Amino acid sequence: MPSNESLAPSSQPFKIPLEGALTDTVSAMVEKEMESDTPPLRDLGRFTTTKFDDATTELVRKANIRNQACVEEYPSIARFQQRCVSILASLWNAPPTGYFGIATTGSSEAVLLGGLTMKRQWQMKSPNSPNPRPNVIIGANAHICVNKFADYFDVEARIVPVSDRTGFTIDAKAVRQNLDDNTVGVFLTLGTTYTGHYDPIHSVSDMLDDYERQTGNSIPIHVDAASGGFVAPFSSNNNSFIWDFRLPRVQSINSSGHKYGQAPMAVGWMIWREKERIPQDLLLESSYLRGSHTNFSLSFSRSGGPVAGQYYNLYRLGMRGYREAAQRARERAQWLSTRLHETGYFACLSDHSPPIASLGPKDRSPLCHNKGCTDALAIPIVVFTFSDRFRELYPQVRLPAVSDAMHDLKLSIPSYTLGGWGAQGQNIDVIRVVVRDEMTTELLEEVFSGLRDVVESLIR
Ligand SMILES: Cc1ncc(COP(=O)(O)O)c(C=O)c1O
Repeated sequence: MPSNESLAPSSQPFKIPLEGALTDTVSAMVEKEMESDTPPLRDLGRFTTTKFDDATTELVRKANIRNQACVEEYPSIARFQQRCVSILASLWNAPPTGYFGIATTGSSEAVLLGGLTMKRQWQMKSPNSPNPRPNVIIGANAHICVNKFADYFDVEARIVPVSDRTGFTIDAKAVRQNLDDNTVGVFLTLGTTYTGHYDPIHSVSDMLDDYERQTGNSIPIHVDAASGGFVAPFSSNNNSFIWDFRLPRVQSINSSGHKYGQAPMAVGWMIWREKERIPQDLLLESSYLRGSHTNFSLSFSRSGGPVAGQYYNLYRLGMRGYREAAQRARERAQWLSTRLHETGYFACLSDHSPPIASLGPKDRSPLCHNKGCTDALAIPIVVFTFSDRFRELYPQVRLPAVSDAMHDLKLSIPSYTLGGWGAQGQNIDVIRVVVRDEMTTELLEEVFSGLRDVVESLIR
């Protein structure tokens, strides 16, 4: 039996011990090491849900040992999956029949499969293309998983710049300039990772309709609604901002159940408008387990837990519960945005702050896209930088120093640079707080006072 000392982390390389050890000893060792992590609830940059009711935890524990791949053995998990797909298809306004949907490990896997579908469709459509290298249109505001699709599947990524001038979203005219016969599709984002804005999906779709009329070339849209897929359907502007299968050009949509879907990690959802249009060689039939099943995924065995957790939460919360959660998160994002503006230190890039009449124009950053509406076309994240006036007064204070000081308070808030996104093409350093449902007003008050105090100590 190894002693406690020998279980302590030692110099690399690690090797499996010859003998096992007492359960309590080993679990205490593992737990102790996790204690030095950022407490997940205080990880303010993450999108994924960190808190669940007891029933979710218990159901997930039972479902975790059920393999999603073994459909015959665990038909309940397969049924939960199909019902979740059906619920989302209806929330995203898919046609009542003919659609196809799957659970994935998250939005990244879904995006890879959506891109692969578009690439294969293009290859079937253009078998004799003189230039066989396909391309895909990606906004500079897209999540890295979209670039990963282009890299891994050998597709040229045509990156369309975004900036303060385009409202931090993709511009349909700029997309138009990048299209040609080898374009397999356009990726758009509903709730960008960096500033939270929704891409103007409708206007890109209109432009692509026009392009098709002129060239005969029909280019599909994939909507990466990783966060927005569980926010937009529950917002009051869902009937005025059309982003989903109501637009015939939207071929597929993904979302992360483990973000605003409030399911435990790791589950995402992917729905194609028409199963018929997915190249059939991508839908693999497997029959080595009992029964024969269609498989379209980048992996095989996976836990049934998150799917059970998603299904339970869709029923537990219902339309009303998700609406209330979206509203709560929006109000908290507004509250934090407003407080940050009022300090005069910060200016928001995200779209949640109501107009603040007491501040003069010089105090209001030109970066703030404030429409004063309660339901922003954005997910509830607060992304901010130093105000112009603060920068003039304290040019030596850097935003990453604020993030570092917050980390010392065991509050993790990421800071990153939006390269060339300024109105004059300058870089913008920003900090992001993702407002999740489990974040209480007390926590947000602590975040706000922490930020204010940190800045005041940095300028002293
Ligand atoms: C817009 C967007 N797409 C995709 C992803 C990746 O999602 P997942 O972690 O579920 O793979 C994220 C993650 O934050 C995201 O914000």
